[in-house]
Amino acid sequence: MSSIATHPGRQPGRQPGGVPTRLRVNNRDHVLELDPRTTLLDALREHLHLTGTKKGCDQGQCGACTVIVNGRRANSCLTLAVMHDGDDITTVEGLGTPEALHPMQKAFVEHDGFQCGYCTPGQILSAVCVLGEIEAGIPSHVTGALTAAPTCSDAEIRERMSGNICRCAAYPNIIAAIREVAGGRS
Ligand code: FES
Ligand code: FES
Repeated sequence: MSSIATHPGRQPGRQPGGVPTRLRVNNRDHVLELDPRTTLLDALREHLHLTGTKKGCDQGQCGACTVIVNGRRANSCLTLAVMHDGDDITTVEGLGTPEALHPMQKAFVEHDGFQCGYCTPGQILSAVCVLGEIEAGIPSHVTGALTAAPTCSDAEIRERMSGNICRCAAYPNIIAAIREVAGGRS
């Protein structure tokens, strides 16, 4: 069953002159009235208080702000919240719970796929989508033949994860975590 959260008064989520925007985030509907210049990242962090989504560069270069929008990954710092009226958004808070981690979260823990953890929510959401893209046969820049199904090779994973920067350089362990979730897909 869904619930609708409203954000009345002068609280975050209702800005004077704001544009009504309905966001479905982690299976919960939110009705916001936002300055149309508000990015999706700021709507999530500042108005819905979902701070799992990180602000790294705020200009599309680091991937820390990655969320899933209607099943596809997106840099939430590069898109305006009002453009997502009615959209279905998943943040790291909606992927798993501390008691029941998503397999990708579990694999990142088991393989030490992080150090400071700042890039980790974006890495994990991106990794989930990467496996979905490979499964769907969507080619990348390093896919050999467009007529053949892409594989879960290290090269494919590295290319597809290249938009997610880790300043702690946990890359080998991130790859290991993704490979584990991919299982026999190679
Ligand atoms: S904060 Fe969005 S890409 Fe860096
Ligand atoms: S774990 Fe520190 S930036 Fe990636």
